[in-house]
Amino acid sequence: MNTIVSKIVSCKTPEDIASLDRAAQVLRQGGLVVFPTETVYGLGGNGLDADSAEKIFSAKGRPADNPLILHIASPEDAEDVAYVSPLYTALADAFMPGPLTVILPAKACVPLRVRAGLPTVAVRCPQHPVARELIRRAGVPIAAPSANLSGSPSTTCVRHVIMDMMGRVDMILDGGETTFGLESTIVKIEENGTLALLRPGAITVEMLSSVTEKINIADAVFSALKAGETVLSPGMKYKHYAPKTQLLLLSGSREAMAKHIEKKAKEFSVAALIYDEDMPLYMDILPAECRISIGSRSDLTTEAHKLFYLLREADALSVQEIYAPLPSKEGIGMALYNRMIRAAAYTVIKLD
Ligand code: TXA
Ligand code: MG
Repeated sequence: MNTIVSKIVSCKTPEDIASLDRAAQVLRQGGLVVFPTETVYGLGGNGLDADSAEKIFSAKGRPADNPLILHIASPEDAEDVAYVSPLYTALADAFMPGPLTVILPAKACVPLRVRAGLPTVAVRCPQHPVARELIRRAGVPIAAPSANLSGSPSTTCVRHVIMDMMGRVDMILDGGETTFGLESTIVKIEENGTLALLRPGAITVEMLSSVTEKINIADAVFSALKAGETVLSPGMKYKHYAPKTQLLLLSGSREAMAKHIEKKAKEFSVAALIYDEDMPLYMDILPAECRISIGSRSDLTTEAHKLFYLLREADALSVQEIYAPLPSKEGIGMALYNRMIRAAAYTVIKLD
């Protein structure tokens, strides 16, 4: 398949408008368009068309039982595809448009293929101007998983999108780097009125608790599933976000981490994700290209913004192992922790 790549600068120039109209037409005709959102790039198709959903699953190599998120132009449009409740409206007022996905009972117009046979549907109103303008012009909700091959880290820049998606989609809209770098927070409104947190993101538990006190964090957010355990969100059970090189997480003091990495670096080639404050400890341990900055320890937003980008770049170094510090679970740290333990296939080495 021939893939057209179009750069969108402002959504306002005649060139940008022509690209957006062309992309909207591709979607209406059942084709696939990769577009930027404020979290990660999305691989979009017409969300009300089962054949488009089928194409998304095959372009990504995604397991058929893992449902897609419907992206809508404004929070009220959820009513076209789902049964909303006062709690949805309160969440929408507080956080939409923005990096929050809400699972609601689905209306019959949402094809079963999109929701992988479930009675519910995931709804998200993104903040990114290109995403919003594309949905508006398409005139239909856009079904979109993250624009990466299944199992790999999500894409946060067009170079990484091209590596995974060139030749698999009709069009790629290049909107530059995404803002948050990790996927949206996913919550499910349960029948008893509690909010189940299925995937942490930039809308943190602390922020959600300004809307409701009744928040239940799903077990799978922090740990691997036990055999036979059922999941609230099908996506929880698959290997995720993983670079090709083995990632190992370290927990312990900064000195203990540096000592561990020094020992390993004498045996084989390793790279490490390192906080700026700790960088001096690694000057004589690792070559420059294998000392990968994740910003300051006190700025986990920057680490989140860079994580998937850096995991993909670290793969290109062809080292044998990649090390990273296990983040705290506070604030945005919970989202980082959740992605990193999956990317590392739950390998955490406790030091000290
Ligand atoms: O930030 C994001 O959410 C990005 C951008 C593109 O919007 N999208 C994204 O989609 O991360 P994806 O498909 O990679 O992850 C969606 C997750 C999956 O884990 C899936 O299992 C879950 O949402 N999900 C979708 N529909 C669901 C439903 N009805 N019930 C429970 N989980 C659902
Ligand atoms: Mg994904």
